Order: sequence, then structure tokens, then C-alpha cells
Amino acid sequence: MDENIKIPTHVGIIMDGNRRWAKERGLLPQLGHKEGAENLKKIAEACEEFGIKHLTVFAFSTENWKRSEEEVEYLMNLFIFSIKSFKSRSKEKKYRVRLTGDINRLNEELQKEIREVEELTKNNTGLTINFAINYGGRAEILNATKIIAKEYKEGNIDLEDINEELFNKYVQTKDSPDPDLIIRTGGEQRLSGFLIWQSAYSEFYFTKVYWPAFDKEELRKAIIEYSNRKRNFGK
Ligand code: FPP
Repeated sequence: MDENIKIPTHVGIIMDGNRRWAKERGLLPQLGHKEGAENLKKIAEACEEFGIKHLTVFAFSTENWKRSEEEVEYLMNLFIFSIKSFKSRSKEKKYRVRLTGDINRLNEELQKEIREVEELTKNNTGLTINFAINYGGRAEILNATKIIAKEYKEGNIDLEDINEELFNKYVQTKDSPDPDLIIRTGGEQRLSGFLIWQSAYSEFYFTKVYWPAFDKEELRKAIIEYSNRKRNFGK
């Protein structure tokens, strides 16, 4: 990457278009997800190469439970498989893997994998990868609000203590800075609840390219576009 290019520290990706990618190729929808999972490995490597430090990927929203039982089951198994694969690669790559989302509704095996990988990689210094699984931005905000309300009720904090800094401690991406750049693949131009608290000053990049086809060159294009935009944080 050209040295004049400004590299975002934290990139969020809404990985959309897996099923359409498969359909266009006459494949089963599941194969789109499978290819999407393969692509995530490649994009994580590309992030490292470009010097991105944090990556948050929207893998499963709280709305996605409405998909067919068969698809949900397929996705959950794919997440287990994928997390295992990131776990084994984290030794060499120094990945720090985390869950962003409500772990409680996930099946036992997935919960176990997540807990293990979080523990195993917590002190790693390489790319932080936040898997947003069973994640919803409004739920995250409500959860933080409830914790703060409880702290207030119990007299542990004053009203004046409630500020952005405090709130940031209770959102699940607390170990990553706010995302600088949010990418959505697959042609839709909305956030669907993704990091709505954290993205107040993020740059957005929308592309029609389906997630399985979003390769390193597409990521490079997104970074160049980001770098060309002037961010003034309202100043
Ligand atoms: C969007 O495609 C993708 C998802 C609903 C989630 C699954 C994401 C992956 C499998 C990518 C890899 C991630 C991990 C964590 C292994 P879609 O089904 O909405 O596609 P469509 O918009 O074409 O219907």
C-alpha cells in the first residue's frame, strides 16, 4: 500500500450477499456461506498485511434467527468450524478473537469454542477479530443502559459520571477503538443495527460486490476511498 494512504485502525464489515453469490453460480445457498467463511480468513490476512489492527465482522444478527432452522443450524456449525480454525491460526498469527453479541442463546458447543478462544488469545497482540454473532446494536445499547442504571441505583455512580467514556466500558467492543471504516458488501446501504453506538463518526463504504467475492483488492479500494475522505469529527 502506498505510504500516503491512511490506514483505518478498526474496520467493521457487514458481510452480505453470500446466498446471492451462490445462486448466481447455481450453487446451494449454504455453499455461499461456506465460501464466505473461507473469505473471512483471507480478509483477516489482508487486514494484517495492510496494518489494520481491529476487525469486527457481522456474522449473525438477532434477526437472523428467523431464517430456516436448517440454515441457522448450518451457520452455527460453520461458526464453530471457523472459530476453531481461527483458534489454531492464532498461535502463528497472534490473533485476538472475541465475541460481540449475546452468547447465551448460542448452542453449548459454540459457547465453549468462544470461551476457549477468548481465553487462549486474550493477551495476543496481533489483529483483534470481533465476531458479531447474535448481535444487535439496540440490544447492546439497552444492555449497557441497564448495567449503568443498576450501578446508579446501588449508589456506585452519580448521574454526572454517566458519560460517553463510561458507556464505552459497557459496549461489547470495549477493547477496540470506535470503527474508522464500516464496509457493507452485497449492495444494500444500511447498517442493520451494526455498531450503531460505535459508528457515530465512522466512514461508510458500500459496494455491490458479494461477500465471497470481496477480496484483498476490493479491501484495498475501500481503504483508498476512506483515505481520500476528510474526517473532521464535526469540527
Ligand atoms: C449474509 O449473506 C451473511 C450472513 C447472514 C451471515 C453469515 C456470514 C458468513 C458465513 C461469513 C463468514 C463468517 C463467519 C463468522 C464464519 P446472506 O445470507 O444475507 O446473503 P443474501 O443477502 O445474498 O441472501
